[in-house]
Amino acid sequence: MARGRSDAAGAAAAVAAAGRAAPGSVTRVNRASLQKDPREVASMFDGVARRYDLTNTVLSFGLDRSWRQATRRALGLRPGERVLDLAAGTAVSTVELARSGAWCVATDFSQGMLTAGRGRAVPKVAGDALHLPYADASFDAVTISFGLRNVADTDAALAEMARVTRPGGRLVVCEFSTPVFGPFRTVYMEYLMKALPQVAEAVSSNPDAYVYLAESIRAWPDQRGLAQRIDATGWSGTEWRNLTGGITALHRAVRRG
Ligand SMILES: C[S@@+](CC[C@H](N)C(=O)[O-])C[C@H]1O[C@@H](n2cnc3c(N)ncnc32)[C@H](O)[C@@H]1O
Repeated sequence: MARGRSDAAGAAAAVAAAGRAAPGSVTRVNRASLQKDPREVASMFDGVARRYDLTNTVLSFGLDRSWRQATRRALGLRPGERVLDLAAGTAVSTVELARSGAWCVATDFSQGMLTAGRGRAVPKVAGDALHLPYADASFDAVTISFGLRNVADTDAALAEMARVTRPGGRLVVCEFSTPVFGPFRTVYMEYLMKALPQVAEAVSSNPDAYVYLAESIRAWPDQRGLAQRIDATGWSGTEWRNLTGGITALHRAVRRG
């Protein structure tokens, strides 16, 4: 099924496919712009990879673990099912999914992120969300955690995820969203997001990337807006559940038959 390569060579191939020269011969991009140029995005994640897991846990006050567990539960995975964890980065999200007994493969286009997760015992395949290295209907379920917001073309990525999922298969998108309680929403969007880069300064290997993180969260569609886009790209019955008051949301849908 997988036509990509599950090793560092494969990751290098994906980086080259994304239009970059070999590592060492490029200037690393510290942060992407909201145009989300794939080369800039991959380079930015290469730059945060070394301390990605730690920074995540610090910035989310440890909530990232419970969000990942909620994602696994929302997928309703059964042992033996085939699951694609797209934009899996260091595979921290994939190992949580694999606890279900399903066969879970991590896919990402950042060589640095995949390499940082090399100690995690799950299969890893380098690949671009917009041109997945998998045949049609390869998976029972597809999921993407904190990744869809970073892909250059959201709708094309959702359609590509639908292509590789069997009819009736499931999608769960775990992504930052819009807090539902008005006063908190204002504090979160206007103050906390603006303070995020300063906090990241203390823990991240690339604090500039957290300027992009804050900007991309502020520019991302709210729960309803994302649900409408999912429904328009090969999925049906899209519903969502807020986590931590809507800081994060899980969107769940079924591949149209
Ligand atoms: C914030 S990390 C999320 C990692 C992991 N899923 C998690 O939950 O921590 C976002 C990931 O999306 C990946 N990404 C962004 N655009 C991508 C694309 N077009 N194809 C594959 N991966 C992509 C980045 O390389 C990065 O590793």
